[in-house]
Amino acid sequence: MAAPDLERRSKEEMRLLDLGGHVGFDSLPDQLVSKSVSQGFSFNILCVGETGIGKSTLMNTLFNTIFETEESGHYEACVRLRPRTYDLQESNVHLKLTIVDAVGFGDQINKDERPIVDYIDTQFENYLQEELKIQRSLFDYHDTRIHVCLYFITPTGHSLKSLDLVTMKKLDSKVNIIPIIAKADTISKSELHKFKNKIMNELDKNGVQIYQFPTDDEAVAEINAVMNAHLPFAVVGSTDEVKVGNKLVRARQYPWGIVQVENESHCDFVKLREMLIRVNMEDLREQTHNRHYELYRRHKLEEMGFQDTAAESKPISLQETYETRRKEFLCELQKKEEEMRQMFVNKVKETELELKEKEKELHERFETLKRTHQEEKRKVEEKRRQLEEEKIAFNRRKAAVETMQAQALQVTSQQPLRRDKDKKKTSGWSSIYSVTIS
Ligand code: GTP
Ligand code: MG
Repeated sequence: MAAPDLERRSKEEMRLLDLGGHVGFDSLPDQLVSKSVSQGFSFNILCVGETGIGKSTLMNTLFNTIFETEESGHYEACVRLRPRTYDLQESNVHLKLTIVDAVGFGDQINKDERPIVDYIDTQFENYLQEELKIQRSLFDYHDTRIHVCLYFITPTGHSLKSLDLVTMKKLDSKVNIIPIIAKADTISKSELHKFKNKIMNELDKNGVQIYQFPTDDEAVAEINAVMNAHLPFAVVGSTDEVKVGNKLVRARQYPWGIVQVENESHCDFVKLREMLIRVNMEDLREQTHNRHYELYRRHKLEEMGFQDTAAESKPISLQETYETRRKEFLCELQKKEEEMRQMFVNKVKETELELKEKEKELHERFETLKRTHQEEKRKVEEKRRQLEEEKIAFNRRKAAVETMQAQALQVTSQQPLRRDKDKKKTSGWSSIYSVTIS
């Protein structure tokens, strides 16, 4: 059945009845209030603006307290988000307030808005992860999603910097932006009026969506519509108290006079406090959840492959989507596995081939070495054989010499009388001897 039909039928079936007496469900809003009060609230503010623009002073002025601060240097290597959480109590209402400072933003040329966008997304992601858990504890979950971004504009009186436009454009779909002109006491009244118009025109021309105070609730529609026309608020911050008449007021004192923070003819501080804290704090929280978080969640789930309807506008159940995605994932996994297996086989083949090549090379080298060794061995054998022959010849000659020497000695030691006679013989021997020796 089509949705409009269903709606019509349910309207037809619903009948207005009169009650005979007091039942008590009119206490439901009170129950809701009492439950919310006991639970406490959280509110998270992101302050974006250049170093020393007056962020901390304005926070102290807004909440009428002194938060822990730490001055930032002008030489930060990159933009860094510094969250600080405080527990505040007013009457019996507890507020867990987180102030996040974008430290180092706008100081040097290469400062970009990415760390700010990433921080906002991370808080959405954390919330989504908590929502997707089987065992969720959203009741006592510390919600760190940014409810409002106070964008501090430098009071140049000239125009917005391109960094301001780019940053606000990147942030406008993720967070409620309230632009404010900081240190508004440094700009004259006529210049301020022109500056405000210029800023709004530039934001409009560049399609930057800033937060609009809601006008759908009758109770606040009028005041919100008036306040929308005052944007961007030109604010002055100070925690110093100065005596005006017989009253102590928060103000900035100059040699030529006093700028009162809460005097509406001096600046828009009161307007900002009214709109941010006293009238629209709950709307800012709601817009964060219903608009910005919802957009993030939708994109994330679509990225994961979830859809509400298939082709021909047929509704798809979460289970079906999960099964389809699971099948796709398993197919993909199988394909990857097959690719990896093939890659492995190819690698093994390549290595095997390389090893075979290496083995062949080694074998060839071995054969060459073997041949060289055999040749060397043959040469050594030849040499040895020659030496052996030479040795034999030498020994033979040596033996002959020794025999001759022995014979010569024998002859000498026989008759001395025969010396003369034998002289001839001896000379004959010696001639033989010399012949043999030679
Ligand atoms: P970092 O955190 O270091 O980036 O600085 P910040 O933006 O928090 O500025 P902070 O509040 O520390 O103020 C810096 C200086 O500006 C201080 O001397 C403040 O007194 C001065 N200041 C703050 N608000 C105003 C203002 O509305 N008007 C004027 N004229 N000076 C202000
Ligand atoms: Mg500061």
